[in-house]
Amino acid sequence: MDRAGKVSNGKKGEIVIFSDELGWHIDQLKIGLNFSGIKTRILNLSSIDVFIDCAKDNFVMRNFNISPSCCFVRGIAGGSLEQVTRRLAILHQLEFLGIPIVNSGRGIENSVDKCMTSFLLRMQDIPTPDCWVLEDKATGITLINRLLDEGRKLVIKPIFGSQGVNVTLIEEKIKNDKDFEKMINFANGVYYIQEFVESAGSSLRDLRVFVVDDEVVAAMERKGQGWVHNVAKGGVCRQIIPDNFLKKLAIQSTRTVGLEIGGVDIIEDKRSELGYTVLEVNGVPAWKGLQNVSSINISEKIIKFMISKMR
Ligand SMILES: Nc1ncnc2c1ncn2[C@@H]1O[C@H](COP(=O)(O)OP(=O)(O)OP(=O)(O)O)[C@@H](O)[C@H]1O
Ligand SMILES: [Mg+2]
Repeated sequence: MDRAGKVSNGKKGEIVIFSDELGWHIDQLKIGLNFSGIKTRILNLSSIDVFIDCAKDNFVMRNFNISPSCCFVRGIAGGSLEQVTRRLAILHQLEFLGIPIVNSGRGIENSVDKCMTSFLLRMQDIPTPDCWVLEDKATGITLINRLLDEGRKLVIKPIFGSQGVNVTLIEEKIKNDKDFEKMINFANGVYYIQEFVESAGSSLRDLRVFVVDDEVVAAMERKGQGWVHNVAKGGVCRQIIPDNFLKKLAIQSTRTVGLEIGGVDIIEDKRSELGYTVLEVNGVPAWKGLQNVSSINISEKIIKFMISKMR
């Protein structure tokens, strides 16, 4: 079935989609935007050259010569610290020039860094697990052992999203540096330790709630073999109808992180007043898995929103 969003509108113009790869998501957006009479350009942020040159126009973005009506961020390739910083800076520069970007550079930065997400959620009193983020190995070992002594259950995971890879339960106290190094060989010098949340009831699952412009457009449960439920790790998806608490929580979380489109990972938590706790918020969320189990056309919702943002 063709799931591409087909939205009629009176607007004309061009939308640039930033992505480092082609595939289903890009096809859906292209087909839907094309149907709406809007030109689409797919650009890899890495291909844009920034020239700040007073002999020319003072500021020129090469490969970006037509000023688009809106930009949509579908993917930013990983790379060196320098490359990723430059790519994010391009989003900020375009925003400075008045071009609407979905999601904004700030929102993407907030959500890409799990520590920043945890901080922002906690500052808004949104239920989210305790976490400890540090760089010193010895302090990390002492802290983990103390928290385990206090009876806390802990996970350690990459501070940047990894689709469930290397999300690790800390099962016993750490005896020495070598054991710790083995456990955190993915960490790149930053240790993000988070309280493990036992799923409520018998349902071992987590929930993904997809928000577009303050509206929950679709939601699903994911059930993995163990406690890591990512689709990329074999989690099986099933549509759910979110209750009002869940909807409100997902919308608040997305807004708090500064996103207009967000995929919110939520886990049922018997200790939380609302019955839910927010694990993380994704600022460049995929929706293919969710679309497979949803009756609503998610691409169409995204396209409608992009069109509403066009200058
Ligand atoms: N603290 C926790 N308590 C219980 N389960 C957790 C916890 N942290 C992670 N999980 C499980 O592991 C999965 C992956 O963790 P998380 O979403 O934090 O990282 P990620 O999926 O690798 O990041 P991204 O979605 O940005 O790629 C969660 O969806 C959940 O199923
Ligand atoms: Mg996740």
